[in-house]
Amino acid sequence: MNSPFKAYLIDQDADKKVGGRLTTLDRDRLDAGEVLIRVHYSSINYKDALAATGAGKIIRRFPCVGGIDLSGEVVESADARFAPGDKVIATSFDIGVAHHGGYAEYARVPAGWVVPLPAGLDLFEAMALGTAGFTAALGVVRMEDNGLAPDNGPVIVTGATGGVGGLAIDMLARLGYHVVALTGKAAEADYLKGLGAAEIKLRSEIDFDKVRPLEASQWAGAVDNVGGQILHWVLATMKQAGTVASIGNAADFKINTTVFPFILRGVSLLGIDSGYMGFPMRQRVWDRLAGDLKPRHLAEVTRTIGFDELPGAFDAYIRGEVKGRTVVRIGA
Ligand SMILES: NC(=O)c1ccc[n+]([C@@H]2O[C@H](COP(=O)([O-])OP(=O)(O)OC[C@H]3O[C@@H](n4cnc5c(N)ncnc54)[C@H](OP(=O)(O)O)[C@@H]3O)[C@@H](O)[C@H]2O)c1
Repeated sequence: MNSPFKAYLIDQDADKKVGGRLTTLDRDRLDAGEVLIRVHYSSINYKDALAATGAGKIIRRFPCVGGIDLSGEVVESADARFAPGDKVIATSFDIGVAHHGGYAEYARVPAGWVVPLPAGLDLFEAMALGTAGFTAALGVVRMEDNGLAPDNGPVIVTGATGGVGGLAIDMLARLGYHVVALTGKAAEADYLKGLGAAEIKLRSEIDFDKVRPLEASQWAGAVDNVGGQILHWVLATMKQAGTVASIGNAADFKINTTVFPFILRGVSLLGIDSGYMGFPMRQRVWDRLAGDLKPRHLAEVTRTIGFDELPGAFDAYIRGEVKGRTVVRIGA
């Protein structure tokens, strides 16, 4: 373990241009933490692509090993909750943004960021889910806590072909919801139906410039991954007492909307932040992911790449061309 190990390090040059490269690191270079993990798998999220390419200001400490997700086996632990050989997941907090992350054969992280791998998931599946799956599940759990149930009516998922979108569709369909997938990709209708979407709605069918403060009410729940005009339209089309989980900004981080859905239809807009969601909710969500929320089509939505393929994999995310999830085989 003391010999140098492989890592994908993101750095900034003198002109503040951000980029990443495969290199080697010594154990001494790892950040502080109670738990040393031999990483088996990581994954790619939209945020990882923003971080690695510099397309978004994600990295808060340079240089930083990328990868906001990791799963693996404990090698050393100074915390009584973990012992060598334990299988664990570590996502969120500062991982891969201000603390060396999952794109390395070893990671050292604070024990408070580590989740024991729940029975019902293996280390590969944990990364097929990754932050995308955790966030989709957190959205579902928060909406249920707010009263959403299958009998309330349909649930719409925006950014449907993305990692979060596809997993949310699968989870909601498994729970018995009537799921409507909103997508820009007509060619992916069969893929989305295969995940459990009962209906497909194309973005091109909607004139987002002409959305009134309240439109015909359609959705009991909504998982929104895109923000902007689409979130305004989602809010305007919610049913009475409907619940929206605001997860992403793939289209736009701004919303220009009105208070009418809130004060005339009692709509709830729930903010979903996977990054700093603490325990016990974090454990509760992973336990559900290993149980009744475990997507039925996890294998179909996931492709696996080798560590050496990682540097070439990010641009497609920035161009919005990726479908489903990508697992990165690190040391498995
Ligand atoms: N809140 C949190 O804790 C958290 C956690 C994870 C991710 N996120 C955010 O959630 C969003 C989705 O993440 P992801 O990993 O699923 O990303 P992803 O795999 O890149 O998917 C994003 C999807 O959004 C749609 N889209 C992309 N550009 C768009 C545009 N300009 N206008 C409308 N739709 C567009 C596309 O789906 P269609 O073509 O099918 O519409 C795309 O596949 C991102 O904004 C990400 O940063 C937030």
